[in-house]
Amino acid sequence: MNAVIVGAQLEASAQSVELVGIANGFAGLAERGLKSLPTRACASLVGRGGTVLGTSRHCDLRSAADLERCRAAIEELSLDGLVVAGGSGTRQGALRLRHGRTRAIAFVPATIDNDVEQTDLTIGFDSAVNFGLRVIDDLRMTAEALPNRAFLVEVLGGSCGNIARAIAAATPVDALLVSEERRSVASVAEDVGRAVREGYALIVMNEGYGHAEEVASEIGELLEIRVRPTILGHSQRGTTPSALDRTLGLRAGRLAVQEVVAGRGGEVTISGLRTDIGRVQGAAT
Ligand code: F6P
Repeated sequence: MNAVIVGAQLEASAQSVELVGIANGFAGLAERGLKSLPTRACASLVGRGGTVLGTSRHCDLRSAADLERCRAAIEELSLDGLVVAGGSGTRQGALRLRHGRTRAIAFVPATIDNDVEQTDLTIGFDSAVNFGLRVIDDLRMTAEALPNRAFLVEVLGGSCGNIARAIAAATPVDALLVSEERRSVASVAEDVGRAVREGYALIVMNEGYGHAEEVASEIGELLEIRVRPTILGHSQRGTTPSALDRTLGLRAGRLAVQEVVAGRGGEVTISGLRTDIGRVQGAAT
């Protein structure tokens, strides 16, 4: 999300447009909480996870009172448009805010969960997946030295298994537990037991699937082995952004400002943004 802010600031400065930050999302907008965004100081933010502007968790402007307060704030602050970045709830809020109004409101899909409509990738997802992979690489070293055991890694993603699935696509795992496909403990234990007999087992689970401690002990009891859980938790949200996320964030931030300046607003979908990264136009072999 910081990369989106940097991209937006670079574009605003190139177009000689004044950009102000709104602290803490829609809740902050309602409170008229502004934050200055000096261009030079902004550049170093590109390598920091999270957002310096803060967020308002779970504020999707479903309440008419919240919506009205935000609309009043936009008028009062004389904002010509808004760039809004976040997940599905934020997108809904942006759509509600835009509805029937003339202000250009651009939305940038940014959440580690990769579960936003109208885009096949969200900013933050790649970094969160890479963070999970690094932990798993480290765990394997421990696992190779401590045979006949199983290791369960709980990743973020809320009730959505996208992060867990992407991790399992990028490294071999012995069991994948995702909210969308419940499995019986017996069938998971069968896969885990087979892997343990060959050395060790690695289980990846999204947080919405269940409590890591409980799932680990259920499997462990059935197999009579020790299954230790590792919970990645919020460190996964704050990890160093990957090159892909930085690039997409910068591009999306720039595009969002272009949309607003042109008076259009709309959705910046990431799908089309990532195809030509690092390629010289016309130099394809
Ligand atoms: O939606 C993004 C996310 O990081 C989820 O993956 C996670 O469940 C949640 O936010 C964590 O935030 P909170 O502690 O507010 O639920």
